[in-house]
Amino acid sequence: MNLNDRLEHVAVLGAGGKMGSGISLLLAREMTLAKLNPENAGRNYQLTLMDVNPDALNGLQAYLEKQGKRFAEKKAEKIAALFPGMDDPTAIAEAFVAAQASILNPVTDLAAVGSSHMVFEAILENLDLKIRVFNQLKEACADTTYFFSNTSSIPIKELDEKVGLGGRIIGFHFYNPPAVQRLVELIIPENIAADLPELSREIGKRLGKIIIPSNDVAGFIGNGHFMRDGLHGIREAQRLSQEMSFIEAVYIVNQVSQDLLLRPMGIFQLIDYVGLDIFQSILKIMAPHFPGEVLHSDLIDILVSKDVKGGQYSDGSQKNGFLKYENGRPVGVYDLVKESYVPFSSGDWQGKADRWIGDKPEGHAPWKALLKAEDRDAQLKSYFAAMSADNGNGATLASAYLKNSREIGELLLNGGVANAAEDVNGVLMNGFFHLYGPINEYA
Ligand SMILES: NC(=O)c1ccc[n+]([C@@H]2O[C@H](COP(=O)([O-])OP(=O)(O)OC[C@H]3O[C@@H](n4cnc5c(N)ncnc54)[C@H](O)[C@@H]3O)[C@@H](O)[C@H]2O)c1
Repeated sequence: MNLNDRLEHVAVLGAGGKMGSGISLLLAREMTLAKLNPENAGRNYQLTLMDVNPDALNGLQAYLEKQGKRFAEKKAEKIAALFPGMDDPTAIAEAFVAAQASILNPVTDLAAVGSSHMVFEAILENLDLKIRVFNQLKEACADTTYFFSNTSSIPIKELDEKVGLGGRIIGFHFYNPPAVQRLVELIIPENIAADLPELSREIGKRLGKIIIPSNDVAGFIGNGHFMRDGLHGIREAQRLSQEMSFIEAVYIVNQVSQDLLLRPMGIFQLIDYVGLDIFQSILKIMAPHFPGEVLHSDLIDILVSKDVKGGQYSDGSQKNGFLKYENGRPVGVYDLVKESYVPFSSGDWQGKADRWIGDKPEGHAPWKALLKAEDRDAQLKSYFAAMSADNGNGATLASAYLKNSREIGELLLNGGVANAAEDVNGVLMNGFFHLYGPINEYA
């Protein structure tokens, strides 16, 4: 079966979730465009949206309708040929949304997924749950169905072997939010159906994604770097908190990992964005695969046990974690002793922490400015040279951070997680919006 055939019947599992809803949107759009294409007359399209939570499915349908309308209005001119005799963008958008609605099949019963040729799985990151659900899928689906798991850390081989899917599963790891983020990490296990990798690349292309391969090792490239980078940040904050307060230490490491490393957000803001509980559970999944390494954090365990978890509310706004947020911006730090947030603005502790960090090395420019700079490489080179020559507290901390990140990158490369330095760098630059990859000449 080629991709056009497979695209007729597709399912998303966990469709109402954070990732599932974005994946559903991408597939709904692509399948609707295919349905409207006269070349496909006679084909029947169905996108089965499966989730155990009916409320999430209701929300998903409203979301798909809104996004479908927005997409069609924006692209009205481009897609007008699919609607002969229509030129009014509003009418085109309405017709597109109606066509999209006609292919959607929201269900709470997994048996309804049975006729799908491709199943995109985006349920919770829990090995036992995924195994249970894949067992049900194996029963429900034909033995020609292909499975695309969005797992961010579980080796695909483990899922395949525990369920006995016979190579019909691949890791298709979207980044959050899937409709916006262009990166997909493609995890190709050793034993795989011959046409599945190429088919997956083709789907990636149809969905407008940048595909970067990662080998089938727990955590893959993205979390392989992020987890270790996050643990480094946590260790640095714990070390600094021997000589200053915990809130100052967290603030400093967050500032340095954003500002001085020229990243879009600091490490604690990123852990908050992902969720401390998710960070904890990914570490738990990865740890047994790396017995020589400490992939664990007592501090994360303590914070999660106090319900300090980060993550997002259903409207997308940021929940408090290491940091407290107002309108998406950090405004305070969680104090472990007081068990409450201390605002940046209370007293002079923020000023003291900023003075501890010191002036930024020469040639510093904000991440956003460098993102657009034509001579970005030259600027980065001269900035990092200035940073390495700077003995200030902040620059020293940042240099160690940069070196640690490079070591993680090399570990991924030499440990067989990535086949090429450019794949490691590509994941960090496309998935995490770093201006430079960890395997660089700056550290
Ligand atoms: N959130 C991220 O940033 C991110 C990024 C990349 C990959 N991922 C991966 O994507 C997957 C989903 O993560 P998420 O953040 O979207 O989770 P989520 O909690 O937002 O969504 C999970 C969805 O699965 C549904 N669900 C639970 N059990 C189910 C079952 N038995 N059958 C069908 N649906 C079920 C839930 O109702 C929920 O709607 C995980 O494997 C995660 O590791 C997440």
